[in-house]
Amino acid sequence: MARRIVGIGGTLRANSSSELLARAVLAECARLGAETRMFGGPALAELPHFNPEAPGRSPEQAELVAAVRAADALVIATPGYHGGVSGVVKNALDLLEDTRGDARVYFDGMPVGLIVSAAGWQAGGVTLAALRGIVHAMRGWPTPAGIALNSIEQKPFGPDGTIVDASVAQMVAVQAQQLMAFALAPAA
Ligand SMILES: Cc1cc2nc3c(=O)[nH]c(=O)nc-3n(C[C@H](O)[C@H](O)[C@H](O)COP(=O)(O)O)c2cc1C
Repeated sequence: MARRIVGIGGTLRANSSSELLARAVLAECARLGAETRMFGGPALAELPHFNPEAPGRSPEQAELVAAVRAADALVIATPGYHGGVSGVVKNALDLLEDTRGDARVYFDGMPVGLIVSAAGWQAGGVTLAALRGIVHAMRGWPTPAGIALNSIEQKPFGPDGTIVDASVAQMVAVQAQQLMAFALAPAA
């Protein structure tokens, strides 16, 4: 069966660079045989604020949780906002608290590709580290290859949103390969 890979992230900006990068990783995974699904910035903005004491879920919330439950791997992309993960992306991740009582708790055993786009290297670095911390807290396995784009200095997208910069394309390809190749070591 094809690997199912779900992308989560991006902003409400047209041509959000973080979302385009996540879509590029998913496209590369699809080229390698995966089934992919993206929850981009506008879709994430439809999610109500997560309330741990309110059991009701909107159709959009239920769809995201169901997609993550069925996933074999994730790609999470955020802008660096004020030195951290954006509220829209964090709200989506907080909703995945719903998977805490599942047979597979949170992202247990799942590879997770991480992407940050920020207007400077400092926010890119600290936000990538923060996102890794979140994924570790949710028992996921961040791929060794994280992607941090400096959206002021790097302009890797062509007019149709695909990546035309060779070094960024290589990072995308490496992360996709790691997502597709990940397998837990057999138990001793
Ligand atoms: C509210 C807000 C806060 C931001 N904070 C930072 C920041 O602390 N450091 C930084 O380098 N860039 C910051 N930026 C710039 C964004 O990270 C940058 O434009 C990023 O590439 C946006 O991603 P997008 O193309 O997916 O929308 C901020 C932008 C906004 C709108």
